[in-house]
Amino acid sequence: MWSQSRAATPPAAQSGGTITVWDPVVRLFHWLVVAGVTTNMFLNEEGKPVHRWVGYAVLLAVLVRVIWGVAGSAHARFADFIPMPSRLWSYGKSLLARREPRYIGHNPAAAVMMVTLILLLVLCGVTGWMQGLDAFWGMLWVQDVHKAAAYTILALAGVHVLAAIRESVRHRENLIWSMITGRKRAPSGSDIDHAPASGRG
Ligand code: HEM
Ligand code: HEM
Repeated sequence: MWSQSRAATPPAAQSGGTITVWDPVVRLFHWLVVAGVTTNMFLNEEGKPVHRWVGYAVLLAVLVRVIWGVAGSAHARFADFIPMPSRLWSYGKSLLARREPRYIGHNPAAAVMMVTLILLLVLCGVTGWMQGLDAFWGMLWVQDVHKAAAYTILALAGVHVLAAIRESVRHRENLIWSMITGRKRAPSGSDIDHAPASGRG
């Protein structure tokens, strides 16, 4: 497919042994989603206009991210990180043995979490929108699904942050800072990079 050839698109400059992994669209998407979910869960009154517009903004961010997953930079593309079951299985085994390799993009377990979170965000946004439609007026299941999606996102986000901290310690790098700057330590040794031409030079 396109992934390897498109990985050779103009690479970012290398500096101090780091490379650009997460482009600005990925980073902006991530922190907008975090802000939107957090404010809708804890600050914005449920169902009120601010809550609805923030929810739509999250949906829009997800839509842009999905397009970017096909057309974006090398590590942003779904083709770079959606794992084959076999790769997920072997990563799972190495994780249990505490010998998991370092990935430059999302590792297979992280990729499953990313896709699950994105699907739940869509479910939450769509069921929020459905609550305002005459066709679904007063249907309790729509509210229930909306609520369940929101609280599952919250729970999985907790696991996701703990996993990011664990991987940061394991591979001696700050993955959270990388999601802010976009940069990670350049690959070496047994590190796995599915888009080796990206982010360098
Ligand atoms: C990031 C996306 C969103 C999150 C995390 C979120 C989260 C929540 C939460 C936690 C509740 C309270 C549920 C409960 O305890 O009963 C709620 C309620 C509600 N949300 Fe959202 N929401 C999102 C998007 C939306 C959108 C896009 C809309 C509409 C356009 C919407 C409309 C509503 C309405 C009408 C309620 C009140 C439901 C009820 O009466 O129980 N939400 N939302
Ligand atoms: C509502 C809360 C959150 C949601 C829904 C969420 C969702 C996501 C998604 C969808 C990605 C994939 C990014 C992409 O490829 O576009 C991601 C990556 C990431 N997120 Fe979050 N996130 C949340 C909170 C956080 C928080 C609070 C932190 C850190 C304090 C964090 C740290 C990271 C890191 C480090 C990555 C990259 C992981 C890797 O290197 O594979 N996330 N997150």
